[in-house]
Amino acid sequence: MNRLRVGIVGSTGAVGLEMLRLLEETNFPVSELSLFASERSVGLTQLFRGQPVSIRPLSDTCFRGLDLLFNATSGELARKYLPIALEEGTRVIDNSSAFRMNPEVPLVVPEVNAHRIDSSSTLIANPNCSTIQMCVAVAPFERAFGVKRIIVSTYQAASGAGKEAMEELVEQTKAFVNGGALEARKFPYPLLFNLIPHIDRFEENGYTREEMKMVNETRKIFEKPEWRISATAVRVPVIRAHSESITLELERDFDPETIRAVLNDTPGIVVQDDPETNLYPMPAQAALRKEVFIGRIRKDLAFEKGVSFWVVADQLLKGAAWNAIQIAQTLVERVWNIRF
Ligand SMILES: NC(=O)c1ccc[n+]([C@@H]2O[C@H](COP(=O)([O-])OP(=O)(O)OC[C@H]3O[C@@H](n4cnc5c(N)ncnc54)[C@H](OP(=O)(O)O)[C@@H]3O)[C@@H](O)[C@H]2O)c1
Repeated sequence: MNRLRVGIVGSTGAVGLEMLRLLEETNFPVSELSLFASERSVGLTQLFRGQPVSIRPLSDTCFRGLDLLFNATSGELARKYLPIALEEGTRVIDNSSAFRMNPEVPLVVPEVNAHRIDSSSTLIANPNCSTIQMCVAVAPFERAFGVKRIIVSTYQAASGAGKEAMEELVEQTKAFVNGGALEARKFPYPLLFNLIPHIDRFEENGYTREEMKMVNETRKIFEKPEWRISATAVRVPVIRAHSESITLELERDFDPETIRAVLNDTPGIVVQDDPETNLYPMPAQAALRKEVFIGRIRKDLAFEKGVSFWVVADQLLKGAAWNAIQIAQTLVERVWNIRF
């Protein structure tokens, strides 16, 4: 076999649209593509390699014959439908949070733990978007100096909450220009000219579920249950690309020159760090890029052995669709022996 029957669930959403585009851009070995979305989209078509593909609804039999399925819908739909695909013998890469903390399911950021992908992998979970970019950035520090503690604050774009959330910010902008009222539907408050320190629901410990995903998923990916991690996740009025302020307490003393050289040599990372020329990562420049951008690297003043830095990445790409495609590239090579 040198080409696969591939499906995308949620192909019309913010992540699904990027998955579709990347399958084409990477020349993914697709022999036949199946697209699934809600009843609202059934009857519409999407273009793949110049050909229209009909969008189909989910059903108990819709995955029959598929080799590989990407899920880009909610955790609730993932829990209902992905077991059906697995029963059919379809391998699955899931963007939702449904199975991420299941000990049987590999949770993969290829730059950190691609070794978790092998021919026995039937279901692989793609981590949370903020977690992915943090893990890519933290990995070289862990390798060079050892990490003891992570303190992170996120600045998360509207599109992190899906296409309707992204549209809501655009509508609020138009309403402001036209002198109208700012309406909030997806977010608890209007996001325009605002910051909302609340992503996903609050947990009993005072952290939000988004913040606890960053804690628990990072520990699982690095296999470091002992890591002390504290996160504050904030929604900001940016359309696309998440930013993070990260402070690490390290095991060994931090040497800025060594780490710059290490980061410059790390695949998937771009260092943008020159205060003299005002060079630092920003979401407007990271949008539509697949890399993780790191800058403002400095010795931390609060920890004796600590470093602080600023990380930006397009969360629809590296935080979701691109990470899923990277996983798929490795899976396809290890299971079907197809390289592309
Ligand atoms: N957005 C991000 O930055 C990001 C990053 C990492 C992970 N994720 C995760 O990726 C998943 C998708 O997120 P998203 O932001 O792309 O959401 P989204 O923009 O809201 O898209 C949701 C997709 O699910 C489809 N859908 C909704 N109800 C359905 C149903 N009953 N049956 C079949 N399809 C249905 C929608 O189809 P219609 O167009 O027909 O409504 C749409 O294609 C979520 O689990 C999310 O947590 C998102």
